[in-house]
Amino acid sequence: MRLPVYLYGHPVLRKITAPVTPDYEGFKELIDNMFSTMYDSEGVGLAAPQIGLGHSIVVIDADPVKDSFPECAGRRLVLVNPEIEVLDGEAVSREEGCLSLPGLSEKVSRVENIRMRWLDENFEEHDEVFTGFLSRIIQHECDHLQGKLYIDHISMIRKQLIKSKLNNIIAGKVRCDYPVKYAPKKR
Ligand code: NI
Repeated sequence: MRLPVYLYGHPVLRKITAPVTPDYEGFKELIDNMFSTMYDSEGVGLAAPQIGLGHSIVVIDADPVKDSFPECAGRRLVLVNPEIEVLDGEAVSREEGCLSLPGLSEKVSRVENIRMRWLDENFEEHDEVFTGFLSRIIQHECDHLQGKLYIDHISMIRKQLIKSKLNNIIAGKVRCDYPVKYAPKKR
């Protein structure tokens, strides 16, 4: 089932998520729904806050960008309670977008190399080093679990320049090809 994507301005996107335990009710169905929602909106990743849930869950399918970024080939991941450790290496600046910020993209500087420990959909432990664009996708999605968005990483000047666009998203004045949920109106 396809779920609406919560847009910028919704308070759920700013909350720090809670860890998930194996007794989570309807977990498998939730993961299926997250993948459907992500595929239908043509994203390569989706974090639980983006469907209004305050839990540490991310789905990623980076395969669609494999032609530009070979490290993404065949990488379909379910991340439960992921923990990221930054490894040595340079920061790289690249364009990012987000399903919760339709119509926007900005250059974001991120470290290249990370190590991540996480649980998969069967609650089995994983520990792997990631690099390149796959590392970027993971960092972007895991930011969501900390209530962070990619625009938190851009300069004040850039943020000022896109302010009217951000306000339009908050005000619900934005067109979207996928079902969305706007921020609650302020009274
Ligand atoms: Ni995002």
